[in-house]
Amino acid sequence: MGKSTDFRYNTGATRVPWAAVGENYNAADLMEIIRFLMQGEGKEYDDAINAVWEQVKKLDKVSTPPGKLSLASQVEGAEQACNEYLGTTTSTFVTNCTAGFEIAYKYANLKAGDEVIVPAITFVATMAYPLAIGCKLVFADVDPKTINMDPADVARKITDKTKMIVPVHIGGYPVDMDPIMELAKKHNILVLEDAAHAFGALYKGKKVGTIGDFASFSFHEVKNITSFGEGGIVTTNVPNFGPEMKRARFLGLDFSAPIDKWLYNITPIPGKEKPFVASNYSTTEIQGLGLKLQVARNEQIIAERRRAAEYLNKRFAENDALIPQPLGDDKTVPTLHLYLLQIDPAKAGGDIQTLKKKLAAKGVTEIAHFGPLYRFKVVQDMGYDSDEIAKTCPNCEEVFYKRYTHLPLYGLSDEQLEYMADAVLESVAEMQAGK
Ligand SMILES: Cc1ncc(COP(=O)(O)O)c(C=O)c1O
Repeated sequence: MGKSTDFRYNTGATRVPWAAVGENYNAADLMEIIRFLMQGEGKEYDDAINAVWEQVKKLDKVSTPPGKLSLASQVEGAEQACNEYLGTTTSTFVTNCTAGFEIAYKYANLKAGDEVIVPAITFVATMAYPLAIGCKLVFADVDPKTINMDPADVARKITDKTKMIVPVHIGGYPVDMDPIMELAKKHNILVLEDAAHAFGALYKGKKVGTIGDFASFSFHEVKNITSFGEGGIVTTNVPNFGPEMKRARFLGLDFSAPIDKWLYNITPIPGKEKPFVASNYSTTEIQGLGLKLQVARNEQIIAERRRAAEYLNKRFAENDALIPQPLGDDKTVPTLHLYLLQIDPAKAGGDIQTLKKKLAAKGVTEIAHFGPLYRFKVVQDMGYDSDEIAKTCPNCEEVFYKRYTHLPLYGLSDEQLEYMADAVLESVAEMQAGK
């Protein structure tokens, strides 16, 4: 193993190496991993897998295991690939996007009673930490065109207790960041971009996730790219905080310098106003490798999603009750993680609930999507009055209950895509005919 950036592994030549303390994977394990990643059945598959096994088992005799399975060169390689792709220097690979949020929230020194503005429509991960520690979540209404946070409503809801604004690039469509950054600057508020869906999106020519004080991307298995099912990249623009994020990822340890008598040199992480204690969000080398491999394909994946979205937009143009997915322009480019389909209920002869039922009956799977957070039981049980909040988020109520759903865009054959477009058009035509 080459020299590690973690001093604990730089033991030099030894008779009894440190790596000997852990169990390694062998050729039979590798075969199970191959079977897991490339599943199949039938004679052709069995023949192929048996041929692979004949070769793989020879590896036991000629190979050595990796010197390290966690936080080493593959993780660094993934971070470097993300930095190159995003044009950042601070990419830090963590267990998931939610962990990245926690680092940003802890940096903000959030405490009970502080206010955090989140969009009314997002996934629970966006608000989990501030909700857990007793902050007051303030729900910004959405822009009905994109279902992203509406900056004008954020402006109305800022108070002197607001500590953070968390724009979420839902479905990978960029939030209108300029007015949000302006408000944040004016009121000394930190901005955390929830870029879970938006790795590779552009806002006015800038990569999404490089605009706010912090951003976190998700590589959970359903996202455009993944790092073996879980993973997140957190970035920051806070001066000098990049290296601190590496320590914030792993309990505040400083790996760069040897320590005396194994008394770990663990210090708190500097926060906005005071230091905080770090947690452990370390990632594995195999995840790092997985991320690096998929980052290299990201542009190709976005282009493929775009082709599918353009096709759906073209098909849906034939019925003016259908409002297509916004595709941005040459400077604002979505990742098209999801296709946002909206209807005009007055023209469609019914609302989205009817359309969703019709699509399900035609075998178009309804993908779990994003609803008003203030309607979630966990929020209600923490003392929030859903109906009162709903009155402050009229667009959210309208689009969620009446107008929108998400359609999948990726991994579909041309036939499936065409079938889905036909199913939407036929269903809306039925609604319009009062059927
Ligand atoms: C909008 C949004 N934010 C945050 C997350 C959390 O991502 P992760 O599962 O990587 O923590 C998700 C995951 O689905 C999401 O959809």
